[in-house]
Amino acid sequence: HEMSKYIITVFGASGDLSKKKTFPAIFGLFKQGELKAEECRIVGYARSNMTTEDLRSRLKPFLLKQGDENLVDKFLAHVTYVHGPYDEASGYIKLREAYTDLEKELAENSNKSVGRLHYLALPPSVFGTVCGQIKENLYEDDISTKIIVEKPFGHDLESSRQLQKELAPLFSEEELYRIDHYLGKEMVKNLLVLRFGNIFFNAAWNKENIQNIQITFKEPFGTEGRGGYFNDIGIIRDVMQNHLLQVLTLLTMERPVSFDAEAVRDEKVKVLKAIAPFDHNDIIIGQYGKSEDNSKPSYLDDETVPEGSKCITFAALNFKIRNERWDGVPIVMKAGKALDAGKVEIRIQFKQVASGIFNEIPNNELVIRVQPDEAVYFKCNMKTPGLSTTTKVTDLDLTYADRYKDFWIPQAYEALIRDALIGDHSNFVRDDELDVSWKLFTPLLNYLEGKDAPVPSIYPYGSRGPENLNEYMKAHGYVYMKGD
Ligand code: BG6
Repeated sequence: HEMSKYIITVFGASGDLSKKKTFPAIFGLFKQGELKAEECRIVGYARSNMTTEDLRSRLKPFLLKQGDENLVDKFLAHVTYVHGPYDEASGYIKLREAYTDLEKELAENSNKSVGRLHYLALPPSVFGTVCGQIKENLYEDDISTKIIVEKPFGHDLESSRQLQKELAPLFSEEELYRIDHYLGKEMVKNLLVLRFGNIFFNAAWNKENIQNIQITFKEPFGTEGRGGYFNDIGIIRDVMQNHLLQVLTLLTMERPVSFDAEAVRDEKVKVLKAIAPFDHNDIIIGQYGKSEDNSKPSYLDDETVPEGSKCITFAALNFKIRNERWDGVPIVMKAGKALDAGKVEIRIQFKQVASGIFNEIPNNELVIRVQPDEAVYFKCNMKTPGLSTTTKVTDLDLTYADRYKDFWIPQAYEALIRDALIGDHSNFVRDDELDVSWKLFTPLLNYLEGKDAPVPSIYPYGSRGPENLNEYMKAHGYVYMKGD
């Protein structure tokens, strides 16, 4: 893949996402030498009436977390700011003028063309407007144009289709990059290699050998003042319909014919279509209350949350995939805010070995820890060393921090921005994939938000979740082992 030269424009440059994620990711690529000063210029665009210097000093403290001052200043020297409205041509015309100068700078000593990457760090309510203006004022047929958009891609099937309808006439699927940042995480990107690059995992990856799968997302903090925003979303839209479903898809899809983006996404869509509608009686929903020691507030204590809200901050869902590989295997996805830990992991519990020679021997379990501290470990049974004849569960442990000490593990946004620059769509969400996932989740969300909505069970801030969680997991075949 050869990267051409790029002008990257960050729309929403004065916002939170851009200072916390977008600019630091672009800086990260610069730091690693993946983006070179002579090949790239970055323009921030927003409504705030600021100068380039203002933007630079706003970004600086965030970038200093990742690099020394010298490097940060070098990077910031290539960042400029343009302000203007989102819904009128005037600002975009100023951008076009800025591009002319920047293109001249970039074109010196090289005949590589200069492409344009537009990163929309903006709420979806303005995607349509901004994309329309970009098309109208900043689009040229012979210049490579790429648009990155971020979730939420709609609120349900209908609004997602509406958004698609607004964007589709403006930009081709080739030009659009829908970010789901979980697809940029190292361990998520590793899933297909782990499965299809290892004959023994590949051979055991089916209902004959696997008893159950668990995908877990835990955050140790609540909404903390963002409740007003979260309240319309809930945990299912926030991380399950998108991030965790992507993980589930990569874990369960069939082997793609190649690693080509379309081949991979074709298989993803296929397995998504094989998932049965959710059984509304086979879920757990919860909302966090005060911590047991009363030091942490309940969700309803958040002043931005409407009184009596039934918003779900925890859910456990059972996915049934109706195909030959997975029929009958419970796949439980659980996610929650204000829990006892912050981590994302996948547990694949294998079936018992045949009875007869062992009295009782634990199930093998493969754990893939997405974060923090990327790791893959496999719990297997070994003879207790020495004269003993008993068995012992031991981990085959591939903790990245030990094994890959000298490797750069890119942040999700770094990996994805680079993918977009080189035109690789494999780790972005395709339109039909989005459609199937909303088709699956919309009836469940309608039920949970309808007039007969069930009441979520209250779990203490800082706990493992609702009380009946262990029972639920056991009912879905999960065997708790010592240390769990
Ligand atoms: C975002 C959600 O998409 O993902 C947040 O809106 C959540 O609520 C975040 O905290 C989790 O991402 P990460 O990378 O921190 O696991």
